[in-house]
Amino acid sequence: MSVLEVKDLYVTYGSGTTSVPAVRGVDLTLAAGRKLGVAGESGCGKSTLALALLRLLPASARLTGEILLDGEDVLAMKWGRLRVVRWAGASIVFQGAMHSLNAVHRVGDQIAEPILLHRRATPAEARTRVGELLQHVGLPVSRADAYPHELSGGQRQRVMIAMALACDPRLIVADEPTTALDVMIQAQILRLIEQLVAEKDIALLMISHDLGVLADTCDELAVMYAGRIVEEGPAREVYGAARHPYGQALSAAFPRIGDPASRRAPRGLPGDPPDPASLPGGCTFHPRCPVAVDACASEDQVLVAAGEERRAACLHVGAKQL
Ligand SMILES: Nc1ncnc2c1ncn2[C@@H]1O[C@H](COP(=O)(O)OP(=O)(O)OP(=O)(O)O)[C@@H](O)[C@H]1O
Ligand code: SF4
Ligand SMILES: [Mg+2]
Repeated sequence: MSVLEVKDLYVTYGSGTTSVPAVRGVDLTLAAGRKLGVAGESGCGKSTLALALLRLLPASARLTGEILLDGEDVLAMKWGRLRVVRWAGASIVFQGAMHSLNAVHRVGDQIAEPILLHRRATPAEARTRVGELLQHVGLPVSRADAYPHELSGGQRQRVMIAMALACDPRLIVADEPTTALDVMIQAQILRLIEQLVAEKDIALLMISHDLGVLADTCDELAVMYAGRIVEEGPAREVYGAARHPYGQALSAAFPRIGDPASRRAPRGLPGDPPDPASLPGGCTFHPRCPVAVDACASEDQVLVAAGEERRAACLHVGAKQL
């Protein structure tokens, strides 16, 4: 059985009279030990998708569809069950560790908290486990006594990963886990995440604007645009030979791992992604697409087969090779 199954997920933020459809009909499947990367420019709905998986969205967000974690329906879970699942079932590693860690508590105590709460461990057992976890993420045990500001950015992100591993989750969702780090440290943290999920057979859903980072780390890739997956398939193939024009622009934009300059404007792609509150009709990518034809402004596109284990949402796919 899949660790994670997402079926026809919609997330709409409602503020006043405007409604912002941030995720529009996403389907995903992820098995134990597999690594799925979700890529796309700023605002395409990546974090909304990540937060939806554990129902961490603000009250203004409306969700429809299905999210199954080990077969259990996340959207139907009662509050108590959801709290347990957020540690023991799945955990999230966010981008800026400084904001996610509590500045006034020692990092060892912060890692111990879920172990004490959800594992019913004694303080001595929790301390031992914290030591093991720190060693696992490549930090000396003595760092347990440090406060977040006494650690480097890379060390803080290692602490976040230790916290995510604390209760042996089945799924880790990593939302831009290395974006704030410099390139060398970024590569180290990516290798660490890769090694840990392989050792423990954890399913990993990793989010990044950087297709290169994801292609290097993940087995499969999903490219999001305006709240939808527009291309998916084996990571190396999508990165090396994207079938959707947006996937092609993204892979051309990230020839090197971790190039923050490309974040807002992938090379060769004019304009910005659309505001989800006023999406263009037809294929939402048509105002920026270099190979758009007249029909693109009126015909909506859904994912269709684009080769073995590959799918893309473009009218040229299937009609002819781009
Ligand atoms: N709480 C909210 N209320 C209303 N709209 C929101 C809210 N959070 C996000 N949005 C909107 O939903 C869309 C998707 O945002 P999201 O944060 O999921 O994008 P993202 O792909 O993670 O972008 P980034 O790469 O910048 O992190 C954006 O248009 C954003 O403005
Ligand atoms: S459907 Fe048209 S606009 Fe959309 S990606 Fe394909 S060619 Fe471009
Ligand atoms: Mg985000």
